[in-house]
Amino acid sequence: MNERMNIVIVGHVDHGKSTLVGRLLVDTGSLPEGKLDQVRRTCELNAKPFEFAFLLDALIDEQAQGITIDTARIFFKSARREYILIDAPGHIEFLKNMISGAARAEAAILLIDAEEGIAENSKRHAYMLSMLGIKQIAVAVNKMDLINYDEQKFKNIKTEYSSFLEEIGIVPFEFIPVSARNGINITENTAAIPWYHGRTIIEVIDGFTTEPEDEKKDFRMFVQDVYKFTANHDDRRIVAGTINSGTIHPGDEIVFHPSGKISTVKSIEIFGKDSPQVAGSDQAIGLTLTTQVYVKASELISRTGERAPHTTERLRANIFWMGKRPLVTGKSYKLKIGTQKVSVNIEKIEQVLDASALETSMERKQVNRHEVSQCIMSASSPFSFDLVSENKITSRFVLVDGYDIAGGGIITHALKGLKPEDASSKFSQFQIELNNLIQKHFPNWDVNL
Ligand code: GTP
Ligand code: MG
Repeated sequence: MNERMNIVIVGHVDHGKSTLVGRLLVDTGSLPEGKLDQVRRTCELNAKPFEFAFLLDALIDEQAQGITIDTARIFFKSARREYILIDAPGHIEFLKNMISGAARAEAAILLIDAEEGIAENSKRHAYMLSMLGIKQIAVAVNKMDLINYDEQKFKNIKTEYSSFLEEIGIVPFEFIPVSARNGINITENTAAIPWYHGRTIIEVIDGFTTEPEDEKKDFRMFVQDVYKFTANHDDRRIVAGTINSGTIHPGDEIVFHPSGKISTVKSIEIFGKDSPQVAGSDQAIGLTLTTQVYVKASELISRTGERAPHTTERLRANIFWMGKRPLVTGKSYKLKIGTQKVSVNIEKIEQVLDASALETSMERKQVNRHEVSQCIMSASSPFSFDLVSENKITSRFVLVDGYDIAGGGIITHALKGLKPEDASSKFSQFQIELNNLIQKHFPNWDVNL
């Protein structure tokens, strides 16, 4: 199978993201035959100057036929592997996609306009990338032609931006002086910048490594649904979901969280295919179990012998707020993580960060739109998750205010519940253990006590 990598291109408005993407398509020969000429000709006919960004628009128009592109994702190939480029039109859309899981990037190209220099979004985007755990970043200083390929100006940007990136824990792979429009240092070094001896854009992105594979991580799958076979009084059930990470095999013992119920995988079912002996990340599967446990959609499955997720009702998280109304303490929001939904309260806003100035303010009562904050949240009941340091997918959530996705974030710490461990929680632990015992010995009982 070909290796594939998702890369997001971010940068301040007009700094040249779409031009760079168009240029990459042209210079790697990824465009359909004749496309470039056709777009150039259309421009001539309409007496408007050609823009590489028009190539993207043209491809989007053709989506129904070509399927090389959709509004957010562009596919292209280098000699090394396949790429999906995510051209983030604005940071809000990008964030929404990243947070909701619609687009997941493993690396990023940060674009800075050489003439305009470091803009507010250049900082904000970098900060967001770091918050989202994207550490492989190349910085392209674009429009070098507008500053006559001046080495000193490039160096000034590099020095200033590097020290900012360092503060937020990012070590960029390379600073590349480019002209996306003129095709300089995109796929080829040219004489235009004789003082630069580093790598081109394509060399840098080919040098990125794909994530330590999800397959090697602990098994995680949120239950999407539980189906019953109805024919012939069959009481078997199938637990359906999409694998978030790790692998699963028939015979594996699994644990459902937060209920704590345990069973063993009898078979893996994939729609329209023979039952495989193994399934891994991103596969939509159904599991049949050796004992019938009564679990709900939304539970998080792990595998016995691997690290279990955290189950608690209190946590610390970094939240990016995009809501029209500010995020406030004491109000109830809906938190969605995988297929799990819980009602949460913002217990405390510990820090609010202005990503551009890198100034923090403490002890605030509200977080405004486009601000990044560190908060303590408490949920109405315990739920299950991982920390961002453990698993990037099962630690990411969105917050819903009313009906709108108003924010999203990542969980950094699991905290002890506020309530002292009381008799009722001890009892429920007892209940879980009892259920598991009953299931083991009397598999046909309905033990959903
Ligand atoms: P948004 O999508 O609106 O955020 O902009 P963008 O970042 O995608 O920028 P885009 O690629 O549309 O480029 C903006 C303008 O900058 C266009 O007119 C481009 O032709 C121009 N531009 C892009 N790259 C270069 C370059 O290397 N040199 C020069 N001189 N102009 C460039
Ligand atoms: Mg654009």
